[in-house]
This record gives sequence, C-alpha cells and structure tokens, in this order.
Amino acid sequence: MKNPTGPVAVRRHYLMCRPTYFAVEYAINPWMDPAVRVDRDRAIRQWEALRDLYLELGHEVHEITPIEGLPDMVFAANGALVVDGRVYGARFASAERTPEGPAYLEWFRAAGYTETREPKHVNEGEGDFITLDDVVLAGTGFRTEAAAHQEAERFLGRPVVTLQLVDPRFYHLDTALFALSGERVAYYPGAFSAGSRRVLEALFPDALIATEDDARVLGLNAVCDGRNVVIAAEAGALADRLRAEGLTVHPVEMDELRKAGGGAKCCTLELRTTRT
Ligand code: ARG
Repeated sequence: MKNPTGPVAVRRHYLMCRPTYFAVEYAINPWMDPAVRVDRDRAIRQWEALRDLYLELGHEVHEITPIEGLPDMVFAANGALVVDGRVYGARFASAERTPEGPAYLEWFRAAGYTETREPKHVNEGEGDFITLDDVVLAGTGFRTEAAAHQEAERFLGRPVVTLQLVDPRFYHLDTALFALSGERVAYYPGAFSAGSRRVLEALFPDALIATEDDARVLGLNAVCDGRNVVIAAEAGALADRLRAEGLTVHPVEMDELRKAGGGAKCCTLELRTTRT
C-alpha cells in the first residue's frame, strides 16, 4: 500500500439492474419529462460502464433480472435496505413503481437471505436510508414516511436519524447526501429543513459541504468505498475537492439515466451482509 494512513477502500457487494426496459413514461419527480426523448441504448452503455467500473475497483456485482413495464427498476437503490444481512423491503410511494418492492424482496429470498421484512410503511430503500457506522440517516418529505424510519430502526436494531427533505429536485436522501466513510458525509444543505441542517451540523461538524451547482447535476448521488468516489462527470468542482482530500475520483456519465432523476448511487444497492 502506497499511503497506509490515507483513505482505505473496502470491498463492496452491490446489486444492480440492467436498464433493459428503461424509459421515461411518467413523471414522479421534477427531472422526469415524458416528452423528452430517451436513448435506451445509451442508458445501457452508461450503466454497463458503471458496472464495469465497480468490477475494476474490486467490488462484487450481483444483477437482478429487469422486468418489462418497470422502467425505473434500474434504480436498484430503491429496492431495499440491507444492513447486517437483514433485508428491509421497499414499499413505493407511486403506483407506477409499486411492483418493484415484491420483485426485489423475491430476489433476496431466492438468494438465500432469511431475515427479510415486508414493510408496513412507505419507504424507497437506500434511496432514503444511508447507513453509517453508528447511525442510519433517513430522509422523509417526498417519498419515505417517517413511520418507516421507526419501522427500520426496530427491524435493524440500529439508531435511525430522521432528516426532512424540502427541495423537490432532491426528493430522495441519496440525491442530497453521500457517505465518504462510516463516519463522514458530504451534503448539500439547501436540500434540508432548517432543523435537519442543525442535526447534520451537530452530527458531522467535519462534513464536506457541497454547493447547489454540485447538487443540480446529481453530484451528491455518488458512491464511495472509502477511497474511490464514483461521481457524475459534470460534478467537476465537487470532484476537485474530493481529490484535494486524497480520494480517487472516478467520473461517470449518467446523463441518460438522469432524465429519470437518477445517478450512479441510484443504480446501486449495497448488500451489507456482515457487520462492518
Ligand atoms: N425515476 C425514479 C423515481 O423517481 C428515480 C429514482 C432515483 N433513485 C434514487 N435512489 N434516488 O423514483
């Protein structure tokens, strides 16, 4: 190892879903406009580049079979929340995505996960839950209900901190905040209520504070393994700041998938099978 005191990568296990049926046919967030043309082949190429990058970085990637008629299924982050091998299922806010919840849960059961939970409350998986070492951060305001935060806390046995999202462009927590490590986060304060900003300031006095320019290209929808950060190619300023901290930045083109309001993190569900 060249720099033993610098950031260290931890091998991850991800679940992804090829955008075989990707389209923008309905609008459930401000990014989506069914009148805008979507190039599905290009979306598939961008997704494949993301998957190949994870493999190059040494991560393991599992794939769930895409289902025709579920154009947003590529956003695997929304499919569940997996912590310590326990699978808290998703229950989508919109009718269009509702069938994805049972489809993802079925994948976990077939893969041998024995502790699975069908949720009572609306929640969109890792899109609104970000797992750190000591707490799970949870977003509410647009999709996931606060009652689901408590349901997840009980099921997972981990403390869950509720954060209020207020800007419709950043409708999932993972569009406004990402984990740099198990203890440190980067976030865009404008996405949160005044109270939640104070919670974040108190919990993470050393956080990397992102700008609106970083956020509006979905630069916060990034994936970090502790050393490598996979981030939207357009988020140049944020990328420079990450590099200045000794992190290795891997810019990815996600603009085709962004037409549905998703980026790299949205396409990636982390399988936390063991306690870290
Ligand atoms: N079109 C999808 C939706 O609005 C995008 C989901 C993005 N996923 C995410 N984890 N932020 O539900």
